[in-house]
Amino acid sequence: MRQPLVAGNWKMNGSRESIKVLLDGIKDGMGEVNRAAVVVCAPYVYLPGVQARLEGTAVEWGAQDLSIEASGAYTGEISAAMLRDFGCGYVIVGHSERRAYHGESDALVAKKYAVARAAGLIPILCVGETLDEREQGITEEVVARQLDALIELEGVAALTDGVIAYEPVWAIGTGKTASPEQAQEVHAFIRGRVAAKDADVAEGVRILYGGSMKPDNAPELISKPDIDGGLIGGASLKPEDFLGICKAAN
Ligand code: PGA
Repeated sequence: MRQPLVAGNWKMNGSRESIKVLLDGIKDGMGEVNRAAVVVCAPYVYLPGVQARLEGTAVEWGAQDLSIEASGAYTGEISAAMLRDFGCGYVIVGHSERRAYHGESDALVAKKYAVARAAGLIPILCVGETLDEREQGITEEVVARQLDALIELEGVAALTDGVIAYEPVWAIGTGKTASPEQAQEVHAFIRGRVAAKDADVAEGVRILYGGSMKPDNAPELISKPDIDGGLIGGASLKPEDFLGICKAAN
């Protein structure tokens, strides 16, 4: 039985003050979240503060990206070891915003996943098609390409303790959610593709849905057999909305 996972992706939002209020709100409501693992992925500079506020609670924390390099002359970069130093358990890799605005390729994203995993972080691999790709009918082709880059680099076993997030780009921050049926179809495709390599890995890998997930659409999405939780952007910035989704994952 896969444990549901709800991960908040704060993106480039927040201040010390707003994060304090947000985390206090989340911690206060965690008593009603009895099954799902809950993670918040914070901007780097806030990680020490997030660690201080969450240590010893049921809420885990992570980052939104990392470098493929271990250390050295890479100005502006943050390594996997640095994230571990702040108690990060998770890191998002290959978010569509990084793919679109920072030119991250499938190969680079696969490398980031591998580096994160080697350091003991749980990587959340984001995949998903743009609206144009969906309209062209190549959703599965795109998602397969993004997934295969990792499987070819590291082997399917790399997904054993990892997480995949299916995030249709057209649903991110737009208020347009994939219907539960549309999402389930792609999730089943992803699990099937992993199963073709290794059935046990496919059974264990958690596949999150991301893209305008809110407390009102979360129950139906998460009730689908291959949807194991959510990667939440906008709604992760409001404690009541984020907790509403965490409760739906119970
Ligand atoms: P959204 O973002 O929930 O605001 O659509 C999801 C994401 O980008 O991870």
